[in-house]
Amino acid sequence: MINPMKFFQLIPLLLVSLMPVLGHSPKGGNASKIRCLESERQALFKFKDELVDTHGRLSSWGDEEHKRDCCKWKGVQCHNRTNHVIRLDLHNPGYYHYDNISDAPLKGMISTSLLELQQLQYLNLSFNDFGNAPIPEFIGSLSKLCHLDIRHANSGGRIPDHLGNLSKLSHLSLSSNQNCYSENLDWVSRLYSLEYLYLSFANLSKAAKWLQAISKLNSIKGLFLSGCNLPDIPSSSLPSNINASAPLEILSLSNNSFVFSTLTLIRWFSNFSSTGLTSIYLSDNNMSGPIPDVFANMTSLSLLDLSENGLEGGIPKYFGNMSNLLDIDLSWNNLTGELSELMTNLSGPLEQKLQSLRLIGNIISGSLPNMSRFSSLEYLILMENQLNGCIQESYIKLPHLRVLSLSSNQFIGPVPDLSFSSSLQILGLANNKFNGTLIESIGRLSQLKFLDLSLNSFLTVKFNPHWVPLFQLEYLSLSHCRLGPQFPSWLKTQKKLVYIDIFNSGISDNFPSWFGGVASKLEYLNASNNQMYGVLPNFSFSTFSGDGRRALDLSRNKISGSLSFLCHTREWELIDLSDNLLGDQIPDCFTHFEWLKYLNLANNRFSGVIPPSFGSLSALSLLHLRNNSFSGELPTSMGNCTKLRMIDFGENRLTGKIPTWIGDRFSELKVLVLRFNKFYGNMPPNLCGLANIQILDLSSNEIFGVIPNCIHKCIAMAREENNNNPDEFTAFSDATSTGEVHTFENTYFTWKGKEVKFVKHVVLVKLIDLSSNNLIGEIPLEITKLVGLVGLNLSTNNLSGSIPRNIGELKSLNFLDFSRNHLLGNIPTSLGELSFLGVLNLSYNNLSGKIPPTTQLLTFNESSYMGNSGLCGLPLNKSCPGDESHQDSGNNEMGNGQNDDDEFISEGFYIALGLGFVVGFWGIFGTILLNKAMQCAFVKVSNIVEDFVYVRVELTKARLFKYFKNG
Ligand SMILES: *[C@@H]1O[C@H](CO)[C@@H](O)[C@H](O)[C@H]1NC(C)=O
Ligand SMILES: *[C@@H]1O[C@H](CO)[C@@H](O)[C@H](O)[C@H]1NC(C)=O
Ligand SMILES: *[C@@H]1O[C@H](CO)[C@@H](O)[C@H](O)[C@H]1NC(C)=O
Ligand SMILES: *[C@@H]1O[C@H](CO)[C@@H](O)[C@H](O)[C@H]1NC(C)=O
Repeated sequence: MINPMKFFQLIPLLLVSLMPVLGHSPKGGNASKIRCLESERQALFKFKDELVDTHGRLSSWGDEEHKRDCCKWKGVQCHNRTNHVIRLDLHNPGYYHYDNISDAPLKGMISTSLLELQQLQYLNLSFNDFGNAPIPEFIGSLSKLCHLDIRHANSGGRIPDHLGNLSKLSHLSLSSNQNCYSENLDWVSRLYSLEYLYLSFANLSKAAKWLQAISKLNSIKGLFLSGCNLPDIPSSSLPSNINASAPLEILSLSNNSFVFSTLTLIRWFSNFSSTGLTSIYLSDNNMSGPIPDVFANMTSLSLLDLSENGLEGGIPKYFGNMSNLLDIDLSWNNLTGELSELMTNLSGPLEQKLQSLRLIGNIISGSLPNMSRFSSLEYLILMENQLNGCIQESYIKLPHLRVLSLSSNQFIGPVPDLSFSSSLQILGLANNKFNGTLIESIGRLSQLKFLDLSLNSFLTVKFNPHWVPLFQLEYLSLSHCRLGPQFPSWLKTQKKLVYIDIFNSGISDNFPSWFGGVASKLEYLNASNNQMYGVLPNFSFSTFSGDGRRALDLSRNKISGSLSFLCHTREWELIDLSDNLLGDQIPDCFTHFEWLKYLNLANNRFSGVIPPSFGSLSALSLLHLRNNSFSGELPTSMGNCTKLRMIDFGENRLTGKIPTWIGDRFSELKVLVLRFNKFYGNMPPNLCGLANIQILDLSSNEIFGVIPNCIHKCIAMAREENNNNPDEFTAFSDATSTGEVHTFENTYFTWKGKEVKFVKHVVLVKLIDLSSNNLIGEIPLEITKLVGLVGLNLSTNNLSGSIPRNIGELKSLNFLDFSRNHLLGNIPTSLGELSFLGVLNLSYNNLSGKIPPTTQLLTFNESSYMGNSGLCGLPLNKSCPGDESHQDSGNNEMGNGQNDDDEFISEGFYIALGLGFVVGFWGIFGTILLNKAMQCAFVKVSNIVEDFVYVRVELTKARLFKYFKNG
């Protein structure tokens, strides 16, 4: 799996365009001379028959008159004298990158009829999908094969030893078939002609003698064994090098977990190579300590990738003498020291030649030294370190620079003039402390495609309205910069934008109608958290080729208009228009939105019924319609949205019974909020089928009857969370493939009419709120089995009976409200054992007896207990019969006899924030709970801002990664 954090390391790979389609084109319709041999034509037909070709990639392989010559079929090439088929290239052209087969894979089986093609020299079936079937043994009998490529083709199982018979094979690629394995590589040692061997990500963990096998490959030039789980080799069993040598140049052993043999192996391979190694990939290999000197004598080395190890210290001095080293990647290590020192160690013959330096994610400090002597630099990637200070313009005069990333450091001062680097394509300065105003000279960077200045909250990015930059950006992120108050009109000149993020950038302007035209290629638009107003532009989106998906976030503005524009494209994955002034009915055009996962229309002015076509949203995971004026019943078709994990329909005018299909079909549902509507009828026992439910809020409806006994079957609530269980969070956050749900994930919970908002980690919170309904009967004893519950609100119903005696089993409980019911009897002593309890309200019941005098219960004030005429003892101002007189009750004035509910709530909430939440919530679950009014205060007690920033940065990365993959 490729780590999105490493996206920058992929850039060179991606900028150099991926392999062109090799397919032989069947040009020239004149079929006068048919070269194809009939037996081979029949064999190819059989081969085609056993494949599943959903995209018609083999449509030229036909029986019609004009298609008779199989030598002209797509992907087929015949020998120009003998007419035998010599090449078969059926690799899937529709892939973007290794983790993304998007389009047109051939599926099905590889037919044995290929054996008929005995002259076949070249066979390429890569990037198709063979359903985890093993690589067929018979391929080992195609004895003329020189080139065999079945990489990334979902092949599985044991790699057949028969491939060892292919004595002419010079190129063998079986990489990236996750389930392929080989228990020994003896078969490889028989491939005498092999020059390139790609077995990355095959499981070779049992191939103890792998190095012996490799040592026999005396023509090998490139060896790719990344992620193979290769066994460590004790020095004693290293094969002797005496007579073995090969022209080995490229060695890739990344992503293995050698504990002690990494250096031994490098030495062995270095001796083995007769030509000298030119490229070494050792990323993610548990190396630690300083960068070893084992590379010092490798004068031919041009690329060294030691990323993702635990290397410490600086860059050794000998690097400066490595006159052929062009590309150094030391990202994701623990390198320390000042950048200027590190760069001093790179001085020497290397200086003039170095093209690429990547140091992402280390602990390098100091300011940017003069880099201009590294005059060949094309990639300078220093993101995520601790660099600081101002950047001197003359220090980055690098004429060949194509990628500059200084993001996530602490640089200050103005953004330097970079127009000298006229080849710059990618500029990332995000998440620093740049200030001042971005100068117009940036517009001279005519090659610039990618500009990220986000999270520089003191940086002004404002140009005069007629500014016309020379670049055509594809990616633009200016979130948290100072763009406004005017909408940046220069965006009108940008016709290729795929990604725009202007989140929270101080724009308070009309959302310009011309923007609808600019947006046609957009995959991602985030203009949330501004003050934009006016009518939503009429977006004219073009249709993507391939697997493009769209995300649109215009939330938290003042935009009006209707949603008809949504109907014009079906590629939505995420739509967030919450907190605007949008109105009208929602168009019933959701039938084809098969990819839509997230739809948030909360806090607008929508009315009418929920459109029945919502029932077609088969991928929908989150649906927020809160605080609008939707009316009518929920459409039955919605029972088909079985992927839903989060529903918030609160604060509308919805009516009808709570549908039974919610409980029956929404097995993944984690959050169900129906509060403040007009739902009536019983709580259907089917709701107990929601095994994953964590927030159940049916408050303020007209629900009557009893609370079903089966409530304890909501097993997610019966599970106590361990401290910061990240799995739980991940399980939820994969709701969209790109990860943006983190940012948007939130829901609301009422604490007696006050709105409380959960952001992030919402899944760790477990709540039941059935308050303000007409529930009757007793509180089911089974409820005490929901030991994961953090909040339980049954207030303002007609519940009777007593408080369950073992309520103390709800150990995670942080707030509990049973107020305004008809509960009888004593307060159970076990209530006093709830050590995280931050808010308790038992007021206005018929409780009696002495309040158990535990420390826990005494921390609550009088208002928690008032309105129960039979209760006595502290903190009430009423002693129990037989008790000594209580201490002075001077601290009781808070309740003040008025018992204004709101008063109680805010006081209680403060207390909760102070004690329960910080200790119980924040400390234990790392949960963030926000009362809207309390937001600012709470920010101070938690580091939500940092969390939020982090999430945004992550999001950007995920997107960037996607962008580069696709671009
Ligand atoms: C025939 O093929 C050989 C190699 O396969 C090539 O060198 C030669 O140029 C080809 N001749 C023609 C006429 O295409
Ligand atoms: C480099 O080569 C020299 C001379 O062959 C040798 O003395 C030295 O030990 C080598 N250094 C390393 C780190 O292998
Ligand atoms: C890097 O350093 C940090 C703290 O300094 C430490 O927690 C981490 O384990 C180190 N990483 C490696 C791979 O050694
Ligand atoms: C930018 O920040 C620096 C240091 O923090 C400060 O000295 C300077 O005045 C600021 N410049 C502007 C234009 O705000």
